[in-house]
Amino acid sequence: MTALCKKIILLGPPGAGKGTHACMLSKRLDIPHISTGDILREAVNKGNRLGLVARGFMNRGELVPDNIMAEIITNRLRKKDVREKGFMLDGFPRTQAQAEALERTLRGGADIVLYFKTSADVCISRLSGRRICKVCGANYHIKNIPPKKEGVCDECKGPLYQRQDDKEDTIRKRLRVYNKQTSSLINYFRRQGILKEVNGDIDLKPLHRIIVKLLM
Ligand code: AP5
Repeated sequence: MTALCKKIILLGPPGAGKGTHACMLSKRLDIPHISTGDILREAVNKGNRLGLVARGFMNRGELVPDNIMAEIITNRLRKKDVREKGFMLDGFPRTQAQAEALERTLRGGADIVLYFKTSADVCISRLSGRRICKVCGANYHIKNIPPKKEGVCDECKGPLYQRQDDKEDTIRKRLRVYNKQTSSLINYFRRQGILKEVNGDIDLKPLHRIIVKLLM
């Protein structure tokens, strides 16, 4: 399936479902999924320079500094797959400075910004129940998407773990940080005429169908 929109930004609070929908859309539309959270977590696991800087910010639920994030995204967007197929940005931009850095890199804007409007209660319940496979990265939820065997990945039998920043106190902090530093981007992109709002509270499949139509 080929989408009309190929430069896509997913915006919304932690737990809105950005990562889950980006994975589904990326497979269906063959557009690279770029998650800044995943890039940072990989660096933390490797223990490299970026990871050592990012770890403290992430564990506290704070944003990693803009200059570091802008450099990561600029380098990633230069890669061949992005030049050929476009991108689906999940978790970037998160501040006005990041949005401006992105526009400089693209020499223009994105085609569409999908804003996942999601209530805080839903975000907290999704994130506190989220479990991830240590081996293949598959995503579960202890109630909504439980694995067949508790603590074990259905796909590869790897162990499931809870993200360090998915503890309730840190989730609440991430939501405060989102409201303070990121939510103003909703109006920023609305003024550009590229924002499309979707209801992040609804189930995965109906929302996926709505989004696919918006991208066609
Ligand atoms: P990041 O990894 O980007 O975390 P986040 O934005 O907080 O997003 P999440 O992954 O927690 O939520 P999501 O919306 O993707 O939801 P998901 O699909 O997983 O960032 C982590 C940290 O890295 C930040 O705090 C910051 O420190 C740093 N960072 C990253 N980017 C940065 C940047 N640009 N600038 C500065 N710092 C940056 O879904 C959640 C759960 O709900 C899953 O279990 C899923 O299965 C379930 N679920 C989703 N949708 C539904 C549904 N419709 N129905 C039922 N269950 C659902």
